[in-house]
Amino acid sequence: MRLHGKQVVLTGASGGIGSALCAQLVKRGATVLAVGRSRERLQRLAMQAPSGQVVPVVADLASAEGRQHLREQAQAHTPSSLILAHAQSAFGMFEGQSEADLQRLLETNLTAPMLLLNALLPILQRQPQASVVAIGSTFGSLGFPGFSAYSASKFGLRGLFEALAREYADRPVEFLYLSPRATRTPFNNAAVEALNHELKVAQDDPEVVAASLADAIERGDRRLQIGWPEKLFARINGVLPSLVDGSLRKQLAVVRRHAGTTVADPLSHGEPHHETSPSP
Ligand SMILES: NC(=O)c1ccc[n+]([C@@H]2O[C@H](COP(=O)([O-])OP(=O)(O)OC[C@H]3O[C@@H](n4cnc5c(N)ncnc54)[C@H](OP(=O)(O)O)[C@@H]3O)[C@@H](O)[C@H]2O)c1
Repeated sequence: MRLHGKQVVLTGASGGIGSALCAQLVKRGATVLAVGRSRERLQRLAMQAPSGQVVPVVADLASAEGRQHLREQAQAHTPSSLILAHAQSAFGMFEGQSEADLQRLLETNLTAPMLLLNALLPILQRQPQASVVAIGSTFGSLGFPGFSAYSASKFGLRGLFEALAREYADRPVEFLYLSPRATRTPFNNAAVEALNHELKVAQDDPEVVAASLADAIERGDRRLQIGWPEKLFARINGVLPSLVDGSLRKQLAVVRRHAGTTVADPLSHGEPHHETSPSP
């Protein structure tokens, strides 16, 4: 789908990958309804674009009010594309996560995308051709220790998109599930950075990831996994998961050490934030 002249709803636009993707969409001639919770960051994005090409929409998508606000904004425009690039991160051992943490994570990463799709698909389908894009994750194809709930949310998103692509196969709406690998954004706190460093996990810059995502959207790729070893690991996990079990078993002690303890972060709307545990 050519982005030029299209109106696109982009969630997570205030984030690291989202703001770089917003810039790509603008560069390719799209008008963007840029969704996030941070009004300040969305306004900055709007200021950087030609007048009227980025329309900030402040909404907490984990709330019914936030989703309703976005639906009203979408109705007032004529979007043909919805890109779901918002998510909450959660690194930590599973038993250290509270019921409230887990509910909030699933509400943000899986329930909100599902409910938004349900509400916005009729609006998108008013256009002759529509597309819906999920920004997934390697951990949506490969369950990783220390990211159990996050992996579950991304596996769910991938399943939703696969089923919808098949359900709408005879309609002019496409469903793309595109997965970055580790990317240098605020999504990864100090503990994740330290883990990635110790495990020698390759990391991309958000601008590079955003250019790949925008290319994939224009090509209409149904599935994309960025990064060669990640692509291979995800495939091996699909056919021979016991091989990956063995490989990750060897990394478990490192994951446990970095997962450390969960502490409340007063600056993050009551969401948990993980700190590296002291070295043993
Ligand atoms: N960074 C990575 O290593 C990596 C790797 C693979 C996949 N991904 C995926 O890439 C996507 C973008 O990640 P990122 O690295 O750009 O993360 P980020 O920099 O932390 O940005 C997250 C975005 O999600 C928004 N968001 C979170 N909770 C929200 C809520 N309840 N309502 C509305 N917006 C909400 C944030 O909005 P506010 O800041 O305005 O609150 C922000 O715009 C996510 O789907 C993530 O799972 C990231």
